[in-house]
Order: sequence, then structure tokens, then C-alpha cells
Amino acid sequence: MTAEKIIENIYAVGAKDWNRRLFDELIPLPDGTTYNSYLVKGKDKTVLIDTVDPTKTEVLLSNLIEIGTAKIDYIIAHHAEQDHSGSLPRMLAAYPMAKVLTNPKCKELLKDLLLIPDDRFQTVADRETVPLGDKTIEFIYAPWVHWPETMFTYLREDKILFTCDFLGSHLAASELYATEAVYNSNKRYYAEIMMPFRSNIRNNLEKIKDLDFTMVAPSHGPIFKEPKFIINAYADWASDQVKNEVVIPYVSMHGSTQVMVDYFVDALIKRGITVKPFDLPKTDIGELAMALVDAATIVIGAPTVHVGPHPAAVYAAYLANALRPKLKYASIIGSFGWMSKEVEVIAGMIPNLKVEVIPPVVAKGYPKPEDFASLDRLADDIMNKHQANELVKK
Ligand code: FEO
Repeated sequence: MTAEKIIENIYAVGAKDWNRRLFDELIPLPDGTTYNSYLVKGKDKTVLIDTVDPTKTEVLLSNLIEIGTAKIDYIIAHHAEQDHSGSLPRMLAAYPMAKVLTNPKCKELLKDLLLIPDDRFQTVADRETVPLGDKTIEFIYAPWVHWPETMFTYLREDKILFTCDFLGSHLAASELYATEAVYNSNKRYYAEIMMPFRSNIRNNLEKIKDLDFTMVAPSHGPIFKEPKFIINAYADWASDQVKNEVVIPYVSMHGSTQVMVDYFVDALIKRGITVKPFDLPKTDIGELAMALVDAATIVIGAPTVHVGPHPAAVYAAYLANALRPKLKYASIIGSFGWMSKEVEVIAGMIPNLKVEVIPPVVAKGYPKPEDFASLDRLADDIMNKHQANELVKK
């Protein structure tokens, strides 16, 4: 890996992680990721913007040496999560004159997480500026994208907005700059990381809307030379507008729930609705999260295990509840042998979803004609709800 010049005196010095396949031991990374770090050389002061995951510290140090970085005056910490801050202790040792520029909340987190001493910090306020000589950096607090302490840096003269996780993607690529092909990687990242904070995202988009920037440089994934592309995508994803789509995360043990799901998928398609079924034991949860970004309705499919829902369906319900998508309707389909409380259990697990629960369809054993009729009734109910929201042409 090597340092890459963005414009005169501004370099990308971070690391690509081509082979990482899991983040937080939770989130699949089919395309790896990057930990972007940027070096800005002002006439008087040199600033490093974010560091890298601790597994890649040597790459960062080597890139800095490659471009002759004899001194660093400031290291900006936008965010305390270790994929960006984890190399800070080593960087502070390598550059003993450097101060960490961050906000008070992030400072406290960095002291807790990385045991960085108090005297290595210089805190900055929202909209505070720090001169570098011929350049000026401005700090913009951006809380809850996705931690409470997050902030951006605006490099005024060069019109670059450094946004840390915000507007980023888990995508290791040869290219430094984004093309339209990155859309799905960014949407996946938004779905997995940002979606629970939609109102904060809208606030932060509002906060930067009058800034004059021509480049967005996040701390994961490619840099945007056409910022409108990603700003518009975020505005769409974070809006309240839902699409005529039903997401069906499901699991089947002996085939009864599978038969119901197959019938129900066809019933919805016949009614002009886009359907996205996910067989949970085989599903990449990032794909499921992406489907939840736009959908109007979720229908969870589950057989009964020990009276309650199958644990895979419990996981899907928990995940949907945690991600807080802008769903409007929910329901449940599935089967049971002798008794079931799966509907009560799943319905009780989704308080964060501000949805109307449409009466579910639960079959005793293999679905019978009356169960298929009930699935048609559920498909009609969903179509009528979508029509009432003008999601389907009548
Ligand atoms: Fe990329 Fe929230 O860390």
C-alpha cells in the first residue's frame, strides 16, 4: 500500500483491508474495507485526519514516511471507534509533539478506550477553526452518525469535507475516487450503520448544506469528487418516503413455512408489489438491512420452536427493531404443531418500528386451503395499505 496524492499537499495515507470479512464480529464485509486517513500539509502546521485500525498501523506509518512526514502538529480524531482511533497511541509515540484535536465527548471516550493521557489533547468547539498557515480547518459537530461524539472537518481553502463514517462505504478498491458503481456499497453501509439515526442524518445533512465543498472524503471507501451523488442518496434513504416493497425474512424447518412463503410471494407479485424474500439461515444480513432501507412492509416468516418463534426469526425481528427502518406495516406468517405463541413474541420484539401490525397467518401443520385463502387476504390487506399510501397505481 502506498500514499496517494489528492491535490498538492493533501494525501490519502490510510490502509486497504482487502480480506476483512466481518466488522464488529457482526457485519459481513463482502468487499473488505478501508481505513482512510489523510495528511494535510499547511505552510505552518501539518495535520493527520483520523488514523487507521490498529491492525494496519504499520501501513499508516510507512505511508507517512514515504511522503517525508517529519512532523505532525495535530491529529484530528473525528470519532473514537477503534477502526479510526486505534492507531492513535502509536502515532502519538511516533510524533511526540502532536496534539489530538477533538471535541470534549470524543476526548473522554478516547481516554477510556485507549488510555491516552489528558495532556495530549486540545479540544475544539463546534464551528471552531484552526489555522495551518495557508489553510484553515473548521470543525463541524455531527452527533449520532453513529456515535454521540462524531464530527466532520471542513478544509476551507481546498473545499474538502472530511466526514469520517458518514457518507462512507465498506469497500476496498483500487480506485481512490468513487464512480456510480459504489452506490450499493454505500447503501449497505448506510443500512447497517446509519439507518437507526435517520433524524440525526437529516439534521447533519441540513448542517452542511450551505458549505461550499467540491469533494467528500470519508474514512471508509472511495472519495467523492461529485458530492451531490452521495448527498442525494443519503437524503433519499433518510427520508420518510417508502416504496411499494415487502421484505420477508423467514426460516422453515420441515417445509410448511416455506410453502406459505412461496405462495405469499406469488400472491404479492400478482398484486403488483415488489417482494424481497430472505431465507435467514442462508442470508447475508447486510443484504437484508439494505432491503429494509426502502420497504413499506415487513412480513416475518417463522415456524414454532418450543412454543415460541424459531430463533432465526427472533434474530431477524431483533435486527429490524435495532435498525429502525422506516417501515409502515408488519405481519407474521408461519406454522406450528400443537401450540404457538410466536405471534405474541415477535410482535413484542419490535417496539422501535412504528408500524401497524396487519393480522398474521399461522397454520396448524401443513397449510390447508383456508390458510392459503388467509395468505391471499393478507396480500390484499398489504396491497390496500400500499394503495392508501399511493405506493401502488390503482
Ligand atoms: Fe468506522 Fe464508527 O467507525
